[in-house]
Amino acid sequence: MYNIYEAPFLRELCDTTANMYRLGWDERNGGNISYRLKQEEVAPYLDLSRVLRTLPLDFDAGELAGELFLVTGTTKYFKNVAKCPQNNTGILRVAEGGHTVEILWGYEDGSRPTSELPTHLMNHIVRLRADPDHRVVLHCHPANTVAMTFVHELDDRAFTLTLWRMMTECLVVFPEGVGVLPWMVCGNTEIGAASAEKLRDRRVVIWAAHGIFGAGRDMDEAFGLVETVEKAAEIYNLIGTRPILQSITDAELLRLADAFHLVPRAGYLQA
Ligand code: 13P
Ligand code: ZN
Repeated sequence: MYNIYEAPFLRELCDTTANMYRLGWDERNGGNISYRLKQEEVAPYLDLSRVLRTLPLDFDAGELAGELFLVTGTTKYFKNVAKCPQNNTGILRVAEGGHTVEILWGYEDGSRPTSELPTHLMNHIVRLRADPDHRVVLHCHPANTVAMTFVHELDDRAFTLTLWRMMTECLVVFPEGVGVLPWMVCGNTEIGAASAEKLRDRRVVIWAAHGIFGAGRDMDEAFGLVETVEKAAEIYNLIGTRPILQSITDAELLRLADAFHLVPRAGYLQA
């Protein structure tokens, strides 16, 4: 067996959590990440037949049965993940039947996966239906995105159009737009199902007065989505209530989509 502390997937999670903490997106235990791992990349580092403990799921994750995930722990601080991944993260497998998860590594101080595990797994289910190469769900609390949810209407189309207009790259990075949920109690299957509904045909969902989820084929894609939304929200907040003298028009956004061979979400832009 190779040393799991040198596994690329674990190094990548440590680097990402440290970076997110550095950016101020993950105060205290704020934020969580789940990273779908391939059996062949984990097997050299871990005996996959050795289940340390099992935990119940209160929804049906049967579509993910057998899938392996590296998941940050509940109440754990992102700033501490890199120096002690074995206490602050763990590797789990969704068990046959989809109503339990098997802990295979980590959570060594007796801890558990993130309280947002229902949202993460439900998001993985819908993203995998949309894209078999999907792997990462990442959640955090970036201040500008959260601030924007207090002063902007929480409509998917209106929110997306504002972000697209704040910065040229936005349409290129998320042509399918973002989904927005009103304030809800977090850490349960209800917000998980509402989030998954938004992510069926998108990779970003924003929770009002809470934070953001990004999904992607790899850590860079999920991180880059959040980074781009947060930058656009920062510009929105910098503008504040000052009058906008010029912006990107719908016609210009359509020309941009054309130039980058992208299809903006249908019905959002007016020709
Ligand atoms: P966890 O500590 O359970 O991951 O929760 C943090 C969080 O961001 C809740 O939404
Ligand atoms: Zn949160």
